Amino acid sequence: MSTKLKKIMQDDKRFLFQNYGDRQGVCFTRGEKSYLFDQDGKKYVDFLSGIAVCGLGYSFDPLKKAIRAKADSLLHSSNLYYNSDQIEAARLISDLSFSGKTLFVNSGTEANEAALKLVRKHGIRENREKYRIISFNNSFHGRTMGSMAATAQEKIHSGFGPLVPGFIYLPFNDLDAFSAEVEKNQNVAGVIMEIIQGEGGIVLADKKFVSGVFALCKKKGIITVIDEVQTGIGRTGKYFAYQHYGIAPDMITLAKGLAGGVPIGALHARDEIAATLTKGSHGCTFGGNQLASASAVAVLKELRKPSLTNNVARVSAFIFGRMNELKKKSTLIRDIRGLGLHIGIELSIPGAAIVNKALEMGLVINCTSEKVIRIMPALNIPMSAAREGIKILEKILLEEVNEK
Ligand SMILES: Cc1ncc(COP(=O)(O)O)c(C=O)c1O
Repeated sequence: MSTKLKKIMQDDKRFLFQNYGDRQGVCFTRGEKSYLFDQDGKKYVDFLSGIAVCGLGYSFDPLKKAIRAKADSLLHSSNLYYNSDQIEAARLISDLSFSGKTLFVNSGTEANEAALKLVRKHGIRENREKYRIISFNNSFHGRTMGSMAATAQEKIHSGFGPLVPGFIYLPFNDLDAFSAEVEKNQNVAGVIMEIIQGEGGIVLADKKFVSGVFALCKKKGIITVIDEVQTGIGRTGKYFAYQHYGIAPDMITLAKGLAGGVPIGALHARDEIAATLTKGSHGCTFGGNQLASASAVAVLKELRKPSLTNNVARVSAFIFGRMNELKKKSTLIRDIRGLGLHIGIELSIPGAAIVNKALEMGLVINCTSEKVIRIMPALNIPMSAAREGIKILEKILLEEVNEK
């Protein structure tokens, strides 16, 4: 380990909360296209995009230009005033999803928090008891008190005392359980779900389950929220993952890739539902400031280009193809799943050692749900970089087999 890294690690321990567990032994200082460079100048192929955030890589000129322009003109005014960058970002979100209104915040958890508040307010208007929200086991919706309570994972709740009440956790992909609940419970105001449970191990929602849930929600007047924080902004090969399922959600929540690396979150809702958040009922100081909104505009404009979607399809087919070939030779691979460039490789062993080895060999990946290697490169990753990354992964997974 270089003395530079050693010092960084010591200072991290001294000055920062240690809530992230042991960080990977690297401090990235520069990015170029789909490559990252660390404190000592070592180069890595990036297959993670800062967890689906830097979706257009590190050399996307329109984003750099937008950031520079806002640094020179105005970074932030306040939501007390009109903001034309925010309006433009919202217009683009409407164009790419459905006609509605957007509320800008700073993160995925805040976008979900706003969605949960809106669902409650909408339900309670009709009946004081109608504030229950259904979420699904193994989901992840964030870490604030509301979105943590929506997250149906005990390990996320542990140690924080009583949760925000009113959440009902049901098994994912179990339409009978959902149907039984909404038939017996008249106080369900909304449902929040991911189309692909990202933190939960890249688990796809079943098409029949999703269409069944949506049909029942429509019948019962239950609001549907699709959490697109991880799956949105082109990640799965469509603008938003719900678009693979032929459904029409009432709300979607966005963050991560929306502004290419600049912190942002957004709740997008149909007009009649958005109207429930009446004047003064919710707000956010930084939400959608000029810097964040102009960055989102640069990303959203690029998203509309067919060349980007085509690249996602091409690289996705390449990665799935090579991983499926590898699966035939490696007993370590249990399953390969995902959509577009939101890919999980479930192993028969814990993935931490594989992630560490990859880093050593110059590839950035991550592991979710203990055994699932997560691959989320930039949507515009050049095929040459994708090839390089996959070669490294193949080598590691085959060597691991031989060592066994
Ligand atoms: C599906 C989903 N929702 C919400 C969140 C929380 O987003 P943030 O970390 O920006 O608050 C995440 C983060 O991983 C996520 O994957």
